[in-house]
Amino acid sequence: MGALIKNQHILLAVTGGIAAYKSAELVRLMRKHGAEVRVVMTEAATGFISPLTFQALSGHAVHTALLDESQENAMGHINLARWADALVIAPATANCLAKCRHGLADDLVSALYLTATCPVFIAPAMNQAMWAKAATQENIEALQGHGVIMIGPNAGEQACGETGFGRMAEAWEICDAVLGSAESGMLAGKTVLITAGPTREPIDPVRYLSNHSSGKMGYALAEAAAAAGASVTLVSGPVSLTPPKTATTIQVETAEQMHRAVLERARSHDIFIAAAAVADYRPVQVETHKIKKTADGMTLTLEKNPDILADVAKLDNPPFTVGFAAETHDLEHYALDKLARKNLNMVAANWVGRDQGGFGSELNALEVFWPAGRQSLPMTAKTRLAGQLIALIAERMHDQNTA
Ligand code: PMT
Repeated sequence: MGALIKNQHILLAVTGGIAAYKSAELVRLMRKHGAEVRVVMTEAATGFISPLTFQALSGHAVHTALLDESQENAMGHINLARWADALVIAPATANCLAKCRHGLADDLVSALYLTATCPVFIAPAMNQAMWAKAATQENIEALQGHGVIMIGPNAGEQACGETGFGRMAEAWEICDAVLGSAESGMLAGKTVLITAGPTREPIDPVRYLSNHSSGKMGYALAEAAAAAGASVTLVSGPVSLTPPKTATTIQVETAEQMHRAVLERARSHDIFIAAAAVADYRPVQVETHKIKKTADGMTLTLEKNPDILADVAKLDNPPFTVGFAAETHDLEHYALDKLARKNLNMVAANWVGRDQGGFGSELNALEVFWPAGRQSLPMTAKTRLAGQLIALIAERMHDQNTA
């Protein structure tokens, strides 16, 4: 894997958190894999780890000030940003995320973020309560909408003694994430079609049948596929996420519209990933006027929607087709049934209706099955999980084509 980032210019920005010590290992790993690394630090970060450590590990002077005459002469922040093939902010504090999200530039790291035109990877690290706070989650969501690739955080015991999400991803995980994307691309030259979000099946002009899908899993897959070099088309049901800048997004409402949008495009794509939670049934009759509350009860008659995934897999020359399975029980049984019955190349099964993961959550875990194997992808941020699933798809597709 090391060869993939050979000669890549990685600009590592370290902000003030206890996880800063892990970034020393990150520099060592990236250099071991052939990257050239330069380090910048916020003032606060220098309280946790000495710039000298990073200087020794990277082989370059470490920049700590936005306006430092000697450094601006040597390689100022504009030149550093121009030099970088990738900007990696690790650890990124809640404060740093907020600054980047809002476009502040009052220290070297936030100024670099604003200046950078290269891919940006952020590995957040903070106390679990700070991570869970709506403001932080909104900042994360907005930054992802701006094209930032989030790595982690992981769950576990924290330096503050609490347990939960907020631990910075391990150095090797960050190295892997940057390395995978820094490569010319494991999906370079490939086209990927992805469905995401729920569908809405109208009952009357003001009511519909739907489900709890937020689109986060599908949108994260679109970002990850694009980061791996693919040209991505995202067919999205109604969600409140910002369409990824790195994909062409087609907005639909109903299962029938999603079916049409996908079937029109499936033949021209190499990979199809069905992450949408498509309504299996729709009302037979859609009232033209709002139904009035006159009777004590009412019966809705439903009819089956077309199965988008099955119809793509049935095409003469289908793309590499990956289905999802959302299950509340007997996950493996139902996933394997879908794999065989719908003739899929792969199925990614997740639990829904549990405390963690599934619908709406930032987190998820997947049990991935293909005809000759399986792999568990443990609970982590959907953004990270998406990268792991894309890597698995690229690997399986490659194995299938060379078998
Ligand atoms: O959107 P999030 O909040 O991030 O949540 C993510 C998720 C839980 C929605 C996602 O990870 C997921 O599991 N998506 C599939 C949900 C689903 O509808 O599962 P299913 O077991 O009912 O359907 C199986 C597969 O057939 C799915 O790939 C589905 O997209 C596809 N399908 C289903 C019905 C239909 N008419 N057409 C389809 O293509």
